[in-house]
Amino acid sequence: MHKEFLWGSATASYQCEGAWNEDGRVESMWDRYLHEHHLENGDIASDFYHHYKEDIKLMKAGGQNAYRFSLSWPRIISDREGTINPLGIDFYNRVIDCCLENGITPFVTIYHWDLPQYWQETGGWLDHNVCEAYDHYAKVCFDNFGDRVNYWATFNEPKWCLVNGYLIGNYPPGEHDVQHTMNAAYNMMFASALAVRTFRQGNYQGKIGIVHSYTPVDGVDDTIQTQIAVRNADNYSNNWVLDTAALGEFPMDLVTRLSQDYDISLMKPEELKIIKDNTVDFLGLNYYARSLVKPYTHGETQLQFNNTGKPGSTKIVLKDWFEQVMDPKSEFTEWDTEIYPRGLYDGLKKAYAKYDLPIYVTENGVGVREDVSVPKVHDDWRISYMNDHINAIMNAVDDGCDIRGYFAWSTMDLYSWKNGVEKRYGLVAVDFDHHLERRPKASYDWFKKVADSNGDAIKRQAY
Ligand code: BG6
Repeated sequence: MHKEFLWGSATASYQCEGAWNEDGRVESMWDRYLHEHHLENGDIASDFYHHYKEDIKLMKAGGQNAYRFSLSWPRIISDREGTINPLGIDFYNRVIDCCLENGITPFVTIYHWDLPQYWQETGGWLDHNVCEAYDHYAKVCFDNFGDRVNYWATFNEPKWCLVNGYLIGNYPPGEHDVQHTMNAAYNMMFASALAVRTFRQGNYQGKIGIVHSYTPVDGVDDTIQTQIAVRNADNYSNNWVLDTAALGEFPMDLVTRLSQDYDISLMKPEELKIIKDNTVDFLGLNYYARSLVKPYTHGETQLQFNNTGKPGSTKIVLKDWFEQVMDPKSEFTEWDTEIYPRGLYDGLKKAYAKYDLPIYVTENGVGVREDVSVPKVHDDWRISYMNDHINAIMNAVDDGCDIRGYFAWSTMDLYSWKNGVEKRYGLVAVDFDHHLERRPKASYDWFKKVADSNGDAIKRQAY
């Protein structure tokens, strides 16, 4: 691998920080939603807010040279007027400095879903004013941290948070509304372009990209009908984020089709020009699984997502567009995630050929129930999972793809959205029942060998 390859791990503010109401942090949409619905929440989470030094030292001891984390908008900006919370700035200054002292490159996501509740109250991502507010928040981040950060991502996974929030309805604000999904999607992609423009205008050091929940799409066969279903699924899952951020244009066939039934008047020519002129420097691709699809057959749209760990509770049918199916030959987790490393190789090849931008695999991992009361978690299956996915990346690099980093999800066990802390992803176990003690798992030791050898420790298998 390239000698400057980033071998790291990733977290998100709401999922690991805790300290939800400390030092001037205001409420986020997730705090309000989870509290109101009496659901497991991230009030404490892994308490990274108070354990960050220990966690960053563990990254270093684990051979990692980069840390992907997100900044919390409600910790940094206190109100709709844009007032800066100095204690929020101070916290992230300490985190960034601690990374640098430990030889860890900070890879910073500006927004990972924790919208301040004061903006959710005016309509959240349906309120066009949020775009400008986000741009202001991004500028505050560039101004305060930009002298030490070289990697910025405007958003984490617009598709995942907006489709879950506005269409599937399992995330806040819990809606099932196509028009709202479209409007929120447009506003978020426009906000991303505004931040890229601000970044370029300010001549800050480093590069800026976007992070996408990458779901490469395969068809069950090669018929014309299936190819159309694949294109529909690709537009639904990927193209509206990646084409827009990387090429500066929403997919024309998608816009044309949606315009037949929905209102697209939000898309103003002067804003589309800003999107066109402010494309990203790199792509961050999070990979968990591909999507296998067949042509739509019958019935109403069904969008059910497994947030319970009860196998077989996922259902994705978009009326007249496509149906997602489970490959009977594949292995799935209890949360219905297909284990399919080959999909990462195929997806990287497709994305690099189409967008011709450097790529970072910004998340990859697998969530399971684990007993962490033991002195050492021997997560051999996680090691095998990671080995096979890194092998897929290395095969894509061998074929000429420009891939510059791999971030395991997650650095330590943390709060998984709606699934709580029982769905564990960490390289380091967090004992939520005993003082949040950290204990590196076997996968942490294995990942150190991989990072130290710059990938040579991976058991290779050519495709
Ligand atoms: C990604 C997100 O979608 O997947 C993370 O960026 C998330 O925030 C991760 O935790 C795993 O998903 P989940 O739903 O299992 O927590």
